[in-house]
Amino acid sequence: MENNNSELVYEKYLKYLNPSLARLMKVSGCANLESEASGCTIYDNSGNRYLDCLGGYGVFNFGHRHPKIVSAIINQLNKMPLSAKIFLNEPQANAAEMLAQLTPGDLQYSFFGNSGTEAVEGALKLARLYTRKPHIIATCNGYHGKTFGSLSVTGRDVFRTPFEPLLQEVTFIPFGDANALKEAITEKTGTFIVEPVQGEGGVIVPPAGYLTAVREITKEKGVIFIADEIQTAMGRTGYNFACEEEGVGPDIMVLAKALGGGILPVGAFLGTPEVWNAFEPVPLIHTSTFGGNPLATTAVLAALKVLVEEDIAEKARISGLKLKNELQKTANEFPAFIKEVRGKGLFLGVEFVDAGYAGSTMMKMVENGVIVAYTLNNPKVIRIEPPLIITEEEIITVGEVFRKAVSETVKLLGGY
Ligand SMILES: Cc1ncc(COP(=O)(O)O)c(C=O)c1O
Repeated sequence: MENNNSELVYEKYLKYLNPSLARLMKVSGCANLESEASGCTIYDNSGNRYLDCLGGYGVFNFGHRHPKIVSAIINQLNKMPLSAKIFLNEPQANAAEMLAQLTPGDLQYSFFGNSGTEAVEGALKLARLYTRKPHIIATCNGYHGKTFGSLSVTGRDVFRTPFEPLLQEVTFIPFGDANALKEAITEKTGTFIVEPVQGEGGVIVPPAGYLTAVREITKEKGVIFIADEIQTAMGRTGYNFACEEEGVGPDIMVLAKALGGGILPVGAFLGTPEVWNAFEPVPLIHTSTFGGNPLATTAVLAALKVLVEEDIAEKARISGLKLKNELQKTANEFPAFIKEVRGKGLFLGVEFVDAGYAGSTMMKMVENGVIVAYTLNNPKVIRIEPPLIITEEEIITVGEVFRKAVSETVKLLGGY
């Protein structure tokens, strides 16, 4: 049903939420109201239909409202959504067991929270507790969230500088450079945190063998290796977890986004028995009121089952190659404007020669019914991150709309 409240809602954003963001959304042509979503499709309040190629920044790997996940959640909702906190919680135990079975290496124990940044906070705390060493190494342009701890390891000044001083002993090294890691480790280093593919940094794939080298170096030096798989896991890169590609098991893994099946907000960090031992002496040393609630962990279990039963990672791998190929055709046609099409599985990025071309292409794609957005740490790159259940027909549509948007942008902004 049509709803004509866009202007009213916009006014409320200006008055009660985030005026500058509201204005930005308006000029970007994104001030309609999201209204309904199903599979890869989103409808706005005027009944316009969009193909979702943003996937909620990596939340909707299983599409919007996957029926099996919805049904498991409704069933639990009618029994007990939140934990009374006094008895054991069966959905949480089942979700943790399945995560332990599916994740690579020796990861076994889970702590469930409510968002990505919260999971990163927990991971950093666990690494500190285990090593008792304050120095953390992170990567330039990496993105791990915006609360104080995770912001301290997020590598973009525009988000960091206004809040400094953050955690004091953090060193940033180039992403993908194992030698830089080796050189940055000191006596005081306890932790290295890294994304297997940098997402918000602009969808950057490291050289083959990088994670293997990271694992070897951190093991040799007694440094905890945290893999931030918040955006890369749950099939996105063509593997259930991106670390699997090189058979690498980190000491700690961080998950969120698609972990809640695209329906509920959930984050988690997992650790090996060795590292998790650090939590043993004080049972309530790290807690969260809502974390691990039965509703959210029911969603996790249902999502993991869909991941395996529907071979979602393989779908992402095959569809990713097709979509990349479609995007590459346009890149070949406009080499003066598009620097590169890159990515892994259905985690794809298109780098333009400047942010103006990226922004205009993004807006024109939305105007033409395909939702995409630029990456948070690199506005020259638009990310193409659809649900992993995207069909062949939809992939062709994305390719056509991308070509149209780029050619209109080139006409509008001209060349150099
Ligand atoms: C790799 C990575 N880590 C952490 C986060 C932060 O997650 P959240 O926004 O749920 O706090 C993000 C969000 O984009 C992310 O991509």
